[in-house]
Amino acid sequence: MDARHIPVLLAESLAWLAPERGGTFLDATLGLGGHAEALLDAAPAARLVGADRDPQALALAAARLARFADRVELVEADFGRLEERVGHRAPFAGVLADLGVSSLQLDTAGRGFSFRREGPLDMRMGRGGSTAADLVSTLSEAELTDIFRQYGEEPQARRVARAIVEARAERPIATTADLADVVRSARRPMRGEERIDPATRVFQALRIAVNEELDQLSELLDQAVRMLDHDGRLVVISYHSLEDREVKNRFRDLARGEVDPITGRTHSETRILEVLTRKPVRPGEAEVDANPRSRSARLRASRRL
Ligand SMILES: C[S@@+](CC[C@H](N)C(=O)[O-])C[C@H]1O[C@@H](n2cnc3c(N)ncnc32)[C@H](O)[C@@H]1O
Repeated sequence: MDARHIPVLLAESLAWLAPERGGTFLDATLGLGGHAEALLDAAPAARLVGADRDPQALALAAARLARFADRVELVEADFGRLEERVGHRAPFAGVLADLGVSSLQLDTAGRGFSFRREGPLDMRMGRGGSTAADLVSTLSEAELTDIFRQYGEEPQARRVARAIVEARAERPIATTADLADVVRSARRPMRGEERIDPATRVFQALRIAVNEELDQLSELLDQAVRMLDHDGRLVVISYHSLEDREVKNRFRDLARGEVDPITGRTHSETRILEVLTRKPVRPGEAEVDANPRSRSARLRASRRL
């Protein structure tokens, strides 16, 4: 198994988190601990709580962070359970969320995330819940169409959904290769897409659905803001436009304060965040060359007032 994952926008994340101020930081997406290790190295006075829903990632990160054992606590939790699991360590001087999948998840055939590797059609980041194979074998054509359209922005959503429903009547779609074959033969080639696999959007959409990624993100933003100390930093790195839009809108709303429904005026004393990044921070050319997976990353940072 390839257990490497190159941390994305690392210097930028640390610059916005400013761990040299000391205090306790929450890495809500510990993964293989790349950002966490750099933070602990950069700030000897900082403590870190690392959370992830993936027990396999937590075990690998624990080994990597062993030398910081007296400053680190690792917890298995998805975003919906963060407050319950780590709330007793709040308030945090900063919260980092580096969303999406890790290279460990993507590159391990048995996790079923990738159309490039044959494995069971699973795609769950954590334990429990439905697998991608469950969704593909039970959802209706209309439900599959919705998922592909909404989460994958797949222009041929209905055509692919219909092909899946027809194929599964013949035999189960149980592996990543089974699904990739159905999608590749159903989709018509489209101009401008010559360099991406036709299964890309469908796989992304299913992954988002299996892991309820948008609901989870919404929970993360709610809970992180409640657990931040005054002047605490919230840094979120997202990898597709649906996530980035949610982060951008939530930051904007919390930075604006409550709007009086009658006068339409905003009450500035109810402002909760200050947005620190006017535009999303994106990786430079050198980073994208060295780590193509960073290509779609966008970082947004805010400060708790
Ligand atoms: C891009 S990786 C993080 C990599 C990490 N920053 C590093 O440098 O090694 C994203 C991690 O977030 C975790 N994750 C994604 N969504 C999650 C959620 N809703 N709750 C908890 N963990 C989540 C995944 O399991 C994965 O390990």
